[in-house]
Amino acid sequence: MNYTIEIENVSKMIRSKEIIKNISFNVGKGEVFGFLGPNGAGKTTVIRMLVNLIRPTSGTIRICGHDINTDRKQAMAQIGAIIEQPELYDYMSGYANLKHYANMNDTSITHERIMEIASVVNIEKSLKEKVKTYSLGMRQRLGLAQALLHKPEILILDEPTNGLDPNGIKEFRKYVRHLADEHGMTILISSHLLSEIELMCDRIGIIEHGKLIELKDLKAPSTLQNHKFLIKVSDTELAADLLGTKELLFRKVDPNTIELRIPEENMPEIIQELNSHNIRIYWAAPITETLEEHYFSTLSASEGM
Ligand SMILES: Nc1ncnc2c1ncn2[C@@H]1O[C@H](COP(=O)(O)OP(=O)(O)OP(=O)(O)O)[C@@H](O)[C@H]1O
Ligand SMILES: [Mg+2]
Repeated sequence: MNYTIEIENVSKMIRSKEIIKNISFNVGKGEVFGFLGPNGAGKTTVIRMLVNLIRPTSGTIRICGHDINTDRKQAMAQIGAIIEQPELYDYMSGYANLKHYANMNDTSITHERIMEIASVVNIEKSLKEKVKTYSLGMRQRLGLAQALLHKPEILILDEPTNGLDPNGIKEFRKYVRHLADEHGMTILISSHLLSEIELMCDRIGIIEHGKLIELKDLKAPSTLQNHKFLIKVSDTELAADLLGTKELLFRKVDPNTIELRIPEENMPEIIQELNSHNIRIYWAAPITETLEEHYFSTLSASEGM
């Protein structure tokens, strides 16, 4: 795997308090990684270390192979970021903001590049207007243009959809996928909108009290270990009796449907067994956990740790 972000045993102390506790994870090229966790968990602190606004107390961060401690310049050249709010000057036009940002960061950025990126994020018609007249969605697109101006390999976004309307959120999600799928960009995004993260991300990490408590691949088919299935049968009474004698975990959902919790590999046997007792099966379907359900079950499990 080609990792563009590598975080190794990173901790951060702020005023003798350990805010981040020995976190390690990697993000691969072209991957969209969702960074989740309750308020105050430490997401922004990790992100601030990734973009070199603050330094880890210990541990290593590598960006496209460059250690941000020793190879700061090369590492930072690969990153575009919006942290909480894009840094915009209200009294300047959209164009002037982009130009200013370009001059501050990378003098090789041309007028043509500014116009190109403005058209990509669909802001070119408003470029001459002062940013104070922009709507939230326009500000966010201008922020994205700013972050993408120098063609970074990695885009880091801290709660980028805060305050956007449903259409703005959807557009944003499509654009993030486009950057990853068509341009191979690596994107790390923190958000509290779990359903959005579920639609947009390849993988997630959950952080709580400064510890990484979960890494989960959202794209891999789940192993269905002790998975829940819904089964529609011709006779739930009979089916319940039979499943009861086998000491299986199940419940009746409605007069025709049973919910059964077993490993997937045991399903054929159960189906055969039901059939052989003249219980007819109309369908059987796995119940997949939503990211929200997974999030809450992970957080409550870690409370006991
Ligand atoms: N400069 C600082 N000085 C003292 N404490 C800080 C500082 N920055 C962050 N913290 C503390 O670190 C913890 C993590 O904060 P952080 O902003 O990283 O959380 P977060 O996961 O981004 O939360 P949210 O979802 O609310 O944005 C919090 O308890 C916060 O109070
Ligand atoms: Mg935050």
